[in-house]
Amino acid sequence: MVSLVKIAFSIIFFAFFASSAASRVIELSDRFLDIHKEGQWLVMMYAPWCAHCKRLEPVWAHVAQYLYSSSVRVGRIDCTRFTNVAHTFKIRGFPTILFLKGDQQFIYDGDRTKDELVKFAMRLSGPTVQEITRTQSFDTIKNDRDLYFLYVGDKIGHLWDIYYKTADKYQQHAFFYQSHQDVVDNHAPVIKVPTIFVYKENLHYNFSINDDNDYDKINDTMQKWINSERFPTFPKVTRGNINQLFLTNKNLVLAVVEENAVEDISQDMIEFRDMVESVIKNKRHKYHDYFQFGWISNTELVNSIAMMEMTKPSLLVINTSTSHHHIPDDEPSKLTPQAIELFLEHIQNDTATRYGGNNVVVRFYRWWFETKMTLASMWKGNPILTMLLFGLPALFLSLIFYGICCPDILDAGDDDEEEEDESNDSSHMKKD
Ligand SMILES: *[C@@H]1O[C@H](CO)[C@@H](O)[C@H](O)[C@H]1NC(C)=O
Ligand SMILES: *[C@@H]1O[C@H](CO)[C@@H](O)[C@H](O)[C@H]1NC(C)=O
Ligand SMILES: *[C@@H]1O[C@H](CO)[C@@H](O)[C@H](O)[C@H]1NC(C)=O
Ligand SMILES: *[C@@H]1O[C@H](CO)[C@@H](O)[C@H](O)[C@H]1NC(C)=O
Repeated sequence: MVSLVKIAFSIIFFAFFASSAASRVIELSDRFLDIHKEGQWLVMMYAPWCAHCKRLEPVWAHVAQYLYSSSVRVGRIDCTRFTNVAHTFKIRGFPTILFLKGDQQFIYDGDRTKDELVKFAMRLSGPTVQEITRTQSFDTIKNDRDLYFLYVGDKIGHLWDIYYKTADKYQQHAFFYQSHQDVVDNHAPVIKVPTIFVYKENLHYNFSINDDNDYDKINDTMQKWINSERFPTFPKVTRGNINQLFLTNKNLVLAVVEENAVEDISQDMIEFRDMVESVIKNKRHKYHDYFQFGWISNTELVNSIAMMEMTKPSLLVINTSTSHHHIPDDEPSKLTPQAIELFLEHIQNDTATRYGGNNVVVRFYRWWFETKMTLASMWKGNPILTMLLFGLPALFLSLIFYGICCPDILDAGDDDEEEEDESNDSSHMKKD
């Protein structure tokens, strides 16, 4: 028996050792404070007890592997051991992912997948706006990047100035390039210069503004335009990017699907998702300016937006300027591309039913709904603990009141009955 345990231990130890030996992640200490301004760093601030950090570990190893040949060094710091570091970088939660170059510091707030993390590092490791000097480079760029911004023209004037400043602000979210008309050739539909495009899945959309607008107006319009165009056609919506998506001021059209713990999606969910995606893919020009499509699988997030338990699959449209939402009347299984198009037309001409919003009543309802959902999931996960957590204090409180108000009844000894009442009550409440 003992030797079995020993073997098991040595296997675990070996596995751990082997995996950490193969990892390209640099384990940093507080000496990092002396060297962090040299070169470029992508670091994870973690705590050994944090579950999200543990889940990130394999992803982090992949990121480090991928970026190994680049100029970005990937490391991690145990903030419970090196509290100095946590203090210097003002770390408030774990894991916090930072990109550091020179005096600059960027906090990652996106989805914690390898692809997204790598893109984040690649964007920040280059210059703010990268110049393209050879026509052939466009083939590579279009191949590698599904989305980028491109300024065509000389690097002078208001438009360039504002483009550069906006690029600096959004560098962690998108790739920004600059080139000249003769270099671009037929890689973008240039009519006049200077001009700005966003390239998205083989299509170009231009930034249009009247030439006689002043600096502030162009600045304002460009900030909004870049933020609304920097998302791919059909992104996965998560807690990491939903706040940014709300800034697009478009309607968010979300396919709500079910995903299990290992991010597997069943066939019927995939079909539904593809069907919703086909609407935007087939009618891009019609919807591009008013609707941002996407898909979402985070049940809690969806339910708290819709303030009800959404069936899956289903469709949810959120007006990001007013926060109210729309749900089609048709059953989700009856939704076809045509039905969705009709539904979106109703939303556009303001004849679709609205739900929610952001006024006080709705906010209170949302709070109440979320509390109820939390209690319900606690109850499902661990009824006994939930009962102890809420039932016991309630029981004690009522006993105290009992003691204060009617001291002699307490002596009569019917607290057994009282206890049963209490637990029945609380279980009833939580099941609701
Ligand atoms: C932008 O695109 C529109 C329509 O596609 C076109 O009419 C317009 O001339 C373009 N503007 C520039 C500056 O390229
Ligand atoms: C441009 O607009 C953004 C926000 O819209 C603002 O934060 C920034 O200060 C403006 N820049 C200039 C130079 O006016
Ligand atoms: C959101 O609703 C408001 C108020 O009805 C409307 O004016 C606005 O156009 C809607 N937003 C979008 C992106 O359709
Ligand atoms: C809104 O759009 C729907 C669908 O296209 C149409 O049936 C309805 O008549 C429109 N309503 C208004 C007021 O334009």
